[in-house]
Formats: sequence, structure tokens, C-alpha cells
Amino acid sequence: MLIDGCGRGVDYLRVSVTERCNFRCLYCMPDKPFSWTPREDLLSFEELFLFIKASIDEGITKIRITGGEPLLRSDLDSFIKMISDYKSDIDLALTTNGYLLPVTAKKLKDAGLKRLNISVDSLKRPVAQKIAQKDILDDVLLGIDKALEVGLKVKINMVALKGINDNEIIDILDFCKDKNIEVRFIEYMKNTLAKDKLEGLLGKEILDIIKEKYTIKKLGRVGASPSFSYLLEDGYKFGLIDPHKHDFCETCNRIRLTAEGHLIPCLYFDEAMSIKDAIKKKDVKKAVEILKTVLRDKPKENRWGHEGSEISTRAFYETGG
Ligand code: GTP
Ligand code: 5AD
Ligand code: SF4
Repeated sequence: MLIDGCGRGVDYLRVSVTERCNFRCLYCMPDKPFSWTPREDLLSFEELFLFIKASIDEGITKIRITGGEPLLRSDLDSFIKMISDYKSDIDLALTTNGYLLPVTAKKLKDAGLKRLNISVDSLKRPVAQKIAQKDILDDVLLGIDKALEVGLKVKINMVALKGINDNEIIDILDFCKDKNIEVRFIEYMKNTLAKDKLEGLLGKEILDIIKEKYTIKKLGRVGASPSFSYLLEDGYKFGLIDPHKHDFCETCNRIRLTAEGHLIPCLYFDEAMSIKDAIKKKDVKKAVEILKTVLRDKPKENRWGHEGSEISTRAFYETGG
């Protein structure tokens, strides 16, 4: 088992396979002009897999593929199959904007993917278009249905933004309830790349809106999840991810690897170390040493919600949230 400098067990690796994205979500992406890391500077799937194998051997039991938009990287299913073939009982999941799922869901399932988390910030076409800066809704909804049809377990993520989609919290809850899939409402995390004037709802404000229609019961966190679960009277469960309280940092069990080979110990901070050279030389032992150094220095908690703290400069499209 990997243990970090604060004594927390780390068994969850999030791998961002590309920073590129086909959306430009207001809360994530800067305006153009925009330059992506050249493709030749990214680690290949074989190289990423070398590190993944070693981290599984060190005790990682849960792997989530993220982006940017991970489905933009061609042959992602072959990468998923590499991981699944190496350890079939690994908790293997993907976070996506859902746009390409209508054509990829079946291949992903066949490759061994188990779970999908999909972003749905609005069920109104113009609002979804305003947030993603592209007309996306029909394809995303089709993608959700396709994923369910092929037997993938699905969760929905919604980032609640004041004056933009905060009047849709109940609609999205009901939409997910009808489909019997879990929704998690996420507090917007300020970062320097997002649009200036955005304001998110705090967890309490989200719950107050839900309480106008439903009676809710607090459940708790499942394991080390950042999501706190709540129950409606009819047994439907939903989640709230509230980094401004940052109490989930106490049990944070995750580390992030980017497509460029950066190991990122915390979503908030800019700190990272590169395993790229070690992996390019196939020096897996060195890469694991770097992993242990990064874990030793993993911050105790994020700084969202800290009075007067600077805005995070860490790019969500690089870390995959
Ligand atoms: P499950 O495996 O289904 O529990 O998914 P997950 O919540 O680990 O993954 P997902 O990619 O859906 O993450 C949802 C969102 O939660 C992320 O995009 C972030 O916004 C937030 N989140 C996840 N991990 C952290 C974290 O370590 N710190 C903070 N501040 N937020 C996080
Ligand atoms: N604040 C909160 N959540 C964010 N995400 C991306 N950027 C932010 C932000 N600034 C979420 C997306 C998606 C996940 C990968 O990260 O909505 O669900
Ligand atoms: Fe793309 Fe996800 Fe960022 Fe939206 S939040 S722009 S879908 S990486």
C-alpha cells in the first residue's frame, strides 16, 4: 500500500490521457488563442501503461481515465483493455463530457471499462451550449442512453453556477432519478483559467434548493470519496462534492498523472514532478521513486474556501478534475 507524508493510504490513480477537449466549458477552459502540448510530447499508451502496471503492483486498486476529453485520444479502448487484461478486478472508470459516447460506448464496455462519470450541467439546449460553448446536448443525452444500454454504470456530474444553471438543480436531480443513476452536484472551484465573473453555488445553497421539493437525509461519505451522499425519502441517493469545506482532504486517496507525465499530488496546487524521462528510458524503478517523493510531499488540504487565499492556477483540463 502506498502511504503519503500525512499518513493517508493512496490507492486511486487518475490518468489524464489528453488535455485537448472538444468543449470549452466556462469553468474550465481559457479563451482562445490556445496552444496544446504537441502530441509528440505526450506519453504513448504503452508508456503510460508501464507506469500504471508499476502503480498497480504498488497497491493502486482504482484507476480513472480523464482528460481534457479522454475520448478524443484515438484507440482509447485498446488502452483500457491493456489495463483490464493486466488486472481484471481493478475498479476501472472514465470521466467524460459524453459527446462521443454514442459511437464509443460499446467498444469501451467490450474493452473492460466498468464505470462512466458524465458531465451534464444543463438540460436546456441553449444553456448547455452557453456553458460548453458548443451545441452539445442532443449528443450527450444520446451518449448517456447508449452507455446505459451497453451496461456501463453511469454517474452524472453537475457544476452549479449562479444565474446560469442554478434553476436546473431539481430538473437534473429528477432526470437522474428517473433513469436511476446517481448525480453529484459539484461546487465550482475557482481557477485562473475559468471565465472571470463565474460564481458557483456552495453546497448548502444547493441543498437548500433541493429541500424546497424533497426531504433529504444525510448519509455520509463512501470510503475516501470527495462526494457526500444524501438520500431522498423514496430511496434515491445523490451526492454533493464540496471542496470549500475540504473535509474530504483528510482521507484523500488519490494521485494524478497527466498525458505529459506529470504526477500531480493535489488538484488545487501547481506542484508536480515529471516521470517522463524515467518512463521514456523504461526506468520503472526511478518512476516509482518519483511517485513516492510526490506522495511524501502531498499537501494536507486544498485551499478553496480559505479566506484571502489566491485563486488556483491549476488547469482542470490538464488534471481531468
Ligand atoms: P467516483 O469514482 O465515481 O467516486 O468518481 P470521482 O468523484 O473520483 O471522479 P470524477 O472524475 O467524477 O470527479 C468528480 C469531481 O470531483 C472532479 O471533477 C472534481 O471536480 C471533484 N474532485 C475529485 N477529486 C477531487 C479532489 O481530490 N479534490 C477536489 N477538490 N475535488 C475533487
Ligand atoms: N470546478 C468544479 N468542477 C469542475 N470540473 C471542471 N472544472 C471544474 C471547476 N472549475 C468538473 C467537470 C467534470 C469533471 C471532470 O470536472 O464538470 O465533471
Ligand atoms: Fe472539456 Fe471537461 Fe474542461 Fe468541459 S470541463 S472543457 S468537457 S475538459
